[in-house]
Amino acid sequence: MRTDTGVFLPPEPDQARGFFSRIARRYDFLNGFLSFGLDGVWRDWAVRRVLNGRETSILDVGTGTGKFLNAFTKRQVFKKKCGMDFCGEMLELAKRRSRDPSILWLKADAARGIPFRAGSYDVIAAAFALRSISSLKIFFQETIRVLKSGGKLVLLELTRPRSRGFKNLYSVYLKGYLPAVGALFSGARDAYSFLSDSVSRFYEPEEIRAQIEEAGFAGTEVFPCSGGIVTLISGVKKHED
Ligand SMILES: C[S@@+](CC[C@H](N)C(=O)[O-])C[C@H]1O[C@@H](n2cnc3c(N)ncnc32)[C@H](O)[C@@H]1O
Repeated sequence: MRTDTGVFLPPEPDQARGFFSRIARRYDFLNGFLSFGLDGVWRDWAVRRVLNGRETSILDVGTGTGKFLNAFTKRQVFKKKCGMDFCGEMLELAKRRSRDPSILWLKADAARGIPFRAGSYDVIAAAFALRSISSLKIFFQETIRVLKSGGKLVLLELTRPRSRGFKNLYSVYLKGYLPAVGALFSGARDAYSFLSDSVSRFYEPEEIRAQIEEAGFAGTEVFPCSGGIVTLISGVKKHED
């Protein structure tokens, strides 16, 4: 599909899974280091913005080591919680680091469907995972099916800054600092080059909004944060009449 920045081609699922399995062990440390500690601030900010206190079930897709799911569950009590990821190494770390035995950790590829019945969850969340899902169309169709009526889709993603001055500075960070530091600490240069390249080429937030609206979401909202390098996009599954 064509984006403002050219054509965005998602990676093959096996390739993306391979990248994540190789960086899993260093992922949390590098995330903190590369974002100057802001990754946790962004997750908490997103959670505060979207929750209304009445949600009782949550599915976090592309959960990685479970950080976004943890940001939700420390804010409010959920009776049903699931972290889903297609990378076994990430899920193992999530399980080991979690202090909550009631979380279901599930291995599944979001681009091939979400293995739950229709109307199962109040919230479906995904942080920093969209750029590696090979079919967003299937993912968004599946999220709307698996959400309850009135349920919310919450997407947090790395995006590009809005102002020209910041764009130039960010480009140095994205094309130089991020792949170099990522390679140095993880030994996986190709994985961090992919992550950097995918941020440069990914859809604009408004394009993602259009895609979730096409899948049937209503009340969509787009909130940029930190000058636009992170964006929260949300939508609601309409109540059936
Ligand atoms: C950049 S990490 C983000 C992890 C976590 N959400 C966070 O906030 O740190 C992206 C995660 O999404 C997972 N992922 C990517 N594509 C996926 C897919 N199609 N289905 C399930 N998980 C996927 C990867 O394995 C990885 O753990």
